[in-house]
Amino acid sequence: MIKITRYIVALSGKGGVGKTTTMLNLGLALRQLGKESIVVDTNLITPNVALQLGLTPNTATLNRVLYKQASIFDAIHVHESGLHVVPAGLSALEYQNHFLTDFRDALLPLESRYDFVLMDCGAGLWGEVSQSAKAANEALIITNPELTAMIDSIKAIKMAEKLGVDVSGVVLNKVMGKKYELKEKVIEGMINDYPILSKIPFDKKVLKSNNLRKPVVGYKPRSKAAKAYKKLAKVLIEIGN
Ligand SMILES: Nc1ncnc2c1ncn2[C@@H]1O[C@H](COP(=O)(O)OP(=O)(O)OP(=O)(O)O)[C@@H](O)[C@H]1O
Ligand SMILES: [Mg+2]
Repeated sequence: MIKITRYIVALSGKGGVGKTTTMLNLGLALRQLGKESIVVDTNLITPNVALQLGLTPNTATLNRVLYKQASIFDAIHVHESGLHVVPAGLSALEYQNHFLTDFRDALLPLESRYDFVLMDCGAGLWGEVSQSAKAANEALIITNPELTAMIDSIKAIKMAEKLGVDVSGVVLNKVMGKKYELKEKVIEGMINDYPILSKIPFDKKVLKSNNLRKPVVGYKPRSKAAKAYKKLAKVLIEIGN
């Protein structure tokens, strides 16, 4: 059966809100639900995927695919958790020609092989980030319940809208349930009609898992964060049906 591949980009504007953590855990959770998924590191300048999974990508990287020196299938790494990823090169020399960022062309061969291609890009809303968004048909907005993250995420939504990329919804990450956090009603007001797809708690198990180079969904599947990432995977599948 031919698969309809969903190309989803994580956007936040602000750095450090949890894009990479979310995409890796979402990728694994989707796989556990029987969906073929792959995480592609389109953050060529400050790539995190290989580091966060303890992979040594050597030459099999997205950079080589962009240079047309390797096929995307040569650049697929399988983590011990079962997660498929295409890392970006870690060397500072590798991103010099990053005008070569036609991600759509590079990722096209994954079409119909995977149900989900999840693009993890960097912070900001320019360069590679907008190139990643252009290669996607859906955007997941990752943010935290604080003013700076929310203001940047509104800009991320506007960028996706301008590029004609569907905004699937918002993932509220690192939620602590404290009084000083922005209230859900206020956040809903800021994101207009877009839904909050999942609220991921701030969970030390995420930090512990990341330190061990394992997604929390695989390492501590019963943790609060893992449950929330699995819920996000289910919701994403449902909205695509
Ligand atoms: N739900 C969570 N609970 C606790 N810590 C978290 C959670 N999500 C992410 N973190 C931690 O927050 C930090 C930033 O996460 P991550 O690298 O995924 O963010 P990012 O948005 O990809 O950052 P960048 O913009 O630099 O790419 C990491 O130390 C990560 O372990
Ligand atoms: Mg990241």
